[in-house]
Amino acid sequence: MTTTLITGGTVVSATGRSHADVLLDGDKIAAVLRPGSELLGTDLTASVDRVIDASGKYVIPGGIDAHTHMQLPFGGTAASDTFETGTRAAAWGGTTTIVDFAVQTYGERVEDGLAKWHELAAGNCAIDYGFHQIIGGVDDNSLAVMPKLVDEGITSFKMFMAYPGVFYSDDAKILKAMQVAADTGLLTMMHAENGPVIDVLAEQLIAAGKTDPYNHGLARVWQAEEEATHRAIMLGNITGAPLYIVHVSAKQAVEQLAIARDRGQNVFGETCPQYLYLSLEEQLGASSEEWGSFEGAKWVCSTPLRSRAEGHQDHMWRALRTNDLQMVSTDHCPFCMKGQKDLGLGDFRKIPNGIGSVEHRLDLMYQGVVTGEITLERWVELTSTTPARMFGMYGKKGVIQPGADGDVVIYDPNGHTSIGYDKTHHMNMDHSAWEGFEIDGHVDTVISKGKVIVDDNEYLGAKGDGAFIKRGLSQYLI
Ligand code: URP
Ligand code: ZN
Ligand code: ZN
Ligand code: ZN
Repeated sequence: MTTTLITGGTVVSATGRSHADVLLDGDKIAAVLRPGSELLGTDLTASVDRVIDASGKYVIPGGIDAHTHMQLPFGGTAASDTFETGTRAAAWGGTTTIVDFAVQTYGERVEDGLAKWHELAAGNCAIDYGFHQIIGGVDDNSLAVMPKLVDEGITSFKMFMAYPGVFYSDDAKILKAMQVAADTGLLTMMHAENGPVIDVLAEQLIAAGKTDPYNHGLARVWQAEEEATHRAIMLGNITGAPLYIVHVSAKQAVEQLAIARDRGQNVFGETCPQYLYLSLEEQLGASSEEWGSFEGAKWVCSTPLRSRAEGHQDHMWRALRTNDLQMVSTDHCPFCMKGQKDLGLGDFRKIPNGIGSVEHRLDLMYQGVVTGEITLERWVELTSTTPARMFGMYGKKGVIQPGADGDVVIYDPNGHTSIGYDKTHHMNMDHSAWEGFEIDGHVDTVISKGKVIVDDNEYLGAKGDGAFIKRGLSQYLI
């Protein structure tokens, strides 16, 4: 068993920061040497296998990205990162755990969808991983199987009020599934957009000759997000099922969450870096020499990037400060422009939806610390501690304390990261949605279960390092 001592750094948690040394023994954290600790004053440097000097740097729990879609079949193609490439990219960016979505659609058995996801991931991941279950087809079989998911460590499932004909569930189906969730402790995750309304608006735009990616944003109006968010909250209220709204981008949807939370309902929301930084005008409306006005396809995702003029982005930052939103995940769902996004040339509805960001979440959120949008502690809370609590992994993940997994990132606030095109990221994509972003910080060292997997811009991990995590029930409920 390898022992590692991280010395001289500032250990940051969701609730504070302190100068402390961290001792890793095998795959666990053995001790945090700060005032009050038994081992403080003992010189361990000679007795450990390795000493890492973290002077001037932050020592934080490894990032947890609770919303990724490796290899997701979508729009006639599949997300371009495999579990191997996507988890390696995540590791590069300081994320040591992902929670991906196993898929079940109409007519399929939930067990089969889940088994397939285990097959895709097993032995291929660089970091630990868990699964949520997508229930795309609510029927007697899926309703009967849902309670068994809890025993398998799949304690959350996602339903869709969008994408009619693909993953969509109507209110009756959602109600029935939520009743099962309320009985079993499963956390209901909701894609909250009114899909039938959006599809009519999209069809009308196409009929009027408006086929560019920009129109994806015009079709997916904020009212469709606010309305669906409200409806999901009411269905949660009727059934008593705790509810987690994924990828929130409209300020009006946040308002619905805030009202429900003020009433004491178990309702939570996540946003993603793209909804904090990017916009309808600048990205969906972009054009380039290579792609013309199809350039915006790089940023076609759902919910869509919203108008900066309407102030959604500022409101998302605010909601992260006030805890109206609790978490930041990426919704990592990468597609290449050539051969994937370009399926939608001439019809924005055919552009596979998704952005790749799994590698950049910690950096992008750290830039929010630099600009004063969030505190250092909130950064750790949003990207690691709350995801661990929300999805039943806290204690093992999300915190630096004795007994926790040895998932630790050493982050250098004096370093610099330029995010860009071509070879400067590790995701399997032919472009970057984040080209040109400059971060005043740097992921220096990434340790997963006691093993250094990223060290000074060198990758030392291997596929198969990561294992499936059987998650418990949410530890975040009111
Ligand atoms: O555009 C997105 N978000 N693609 C992934 C599927 C989903 O709805 O999360
Ligand atoms: Zn979604
Ligand atoms: Zn998603
Ligand atoms: Zn550095």
